[in-house]
Amino acid sequence: MAKFIINGGKVLKGEIDVQKSKNAVLPILAASILTEQKIKLNDCPDILDVDNMLKILVTLGCNVERFGKYVIIDSSPISSDEIPSKLAKELRSSIFLLGPILARLKKAKVAYPGGCDIGIRPIDIHIKGLKALNVNVKEEHGYIICDASNMKGADMLLDFPSVGATENIMMAATGAKGKTIIRNAAKEPEISDLQNFLVSCGVNVSGAGTGTIIVEGCGSIHGTEYTPIPDRIAAGTYILAALITRGNLTINNVVPEHITSLISKLTESSCKVQVFNDKITINNSKRIKAFEIIETMPYPGFPTDLQAPMSALCCVADGTSIILENMFETRFKHVSELVKMGAKIIVRDKAAYITGVRRLHGADVKAYDLRGGAALILAGLSADGTTAIDDIYHIERGYQRIENVISSLGGEIFRVR
Ligand code: UD1
Repeated sequence: MAKFIINGGKVLKGEIDVQKSKNAVLPILAASILTEQKIKLNDCPDILDVDNMLKILVTLGCNVERFGKYVIIDSSPISSDEIPSKLAKELRSSIFLLGPILARLKKAKVAYPGGCDIGIRPIDIHIKGLKALNVNVKEEHGYIICDASNMKGADMLLDFPSVGATENIMMAATGAKGKTIIRNAAKEPEISDLQNFLVSCGVNVSGAGTGTIIVEGCGSIHGTEYTPIPDRIAAGTYILAALITRGNLTINNVVPEHITSLISKLTESSCKVQVFNDKITINNSKRIKAFEIIETMPYPGFPTDLQAPMSALCCVADGTSIILENMFETRFKHVSELVKMGAKIIVRDKAAYITGVRRLHGADVKAYDLRGGAALILAGLSADGTTAIDDIYHIERGYQRIENVISSLGGEIFRVR
């Protein structure tokens, strides 16, 4: 099993481009099967979640080719409507395929999804949305079996603005007769990116970024070439990595508006952050002040995906920070590992109370999920001595060669087998 070894204490300095968004690319890859024509996806991140999604597309019968930075998907020969449980377990986003498979083939058999173990993560909102579209849904032996032969547009209100459910229903609705209105839809930038992709394929869809999305179904859907948005969570992670080492960093090719919640927290804590059109620079040679309270929320609130990296920064901040995790029940698994590195953290229900220490120290730790793993890298970069992180496949699900990015900024991190 591969590990990351980090020799802490190096100040990160320099300039990077950020990878494209994992959470935008995954639903777009799923949506690529809505058309029989070819899809070309530029700058597709080279990460494990993308590999797994491409494997699933191949299992369905698609021809998938990767040429360096771009991927071409030809789903004309699609031959199966079934996602086997082994692949579904490796990738929670396999659930997104339910919508597109139904729109294209009118039936589907999908195993219950896996992915990061960060809570119960039910799929009831997805299923309710599909049922509203008149899809017949049965659950049998760990599989969701759907018949969408009479799928019809509908006006529905989601119980919660779930990102995945909004995307799934948007994609299913492209194959439903008539108009679908999704109310209380998620507003994340990745939803707008999915809409932009669908529009570039000829789908009549509007409203993404607001709470109401409207899809006109059963139009013709054609191939396209598309470049997804930059990864706001990776950008945020690198900003926090630079801050924890008291370094300075310029991130190019970002959409600063997508991480306003992070930038405003950092500004509150008197970090020097400069925001330009498509770049952000930060400069921080002093110990950061603790954050009064950070609460994770749906967009545009503070993203749950940056909660763990932010906790790492709080571990060395001056004072006590409170973090409230409102989105997922078990998203504090990195805490036990940070404590091994000398962090002072108490967790009670959904709150973590973090009292900053002057220095963390290196330790042998384990990544339990993607963003928690990234938090351990950040902690290792700032710690005295050496940190070894196990189970780094979690990190490699979402960060494209994070060790190279950090090394290019002067950090000492090695991937070893
Ligand atoms: C997506 C992101 C993930 C991010 C999350 C929240 C992708 C691939 N993943 O995950 O990185 O952390 O949004 O911003 O885009 N819920 C239900 N029933 C459902 C669906 C969700 O109760 O049917 C609950 C979840 O358990 C969770 C909350 O709603 O508590 C938010 O989940 P959701 O927005 O659906 O997250 P994902 O789409 O899984």
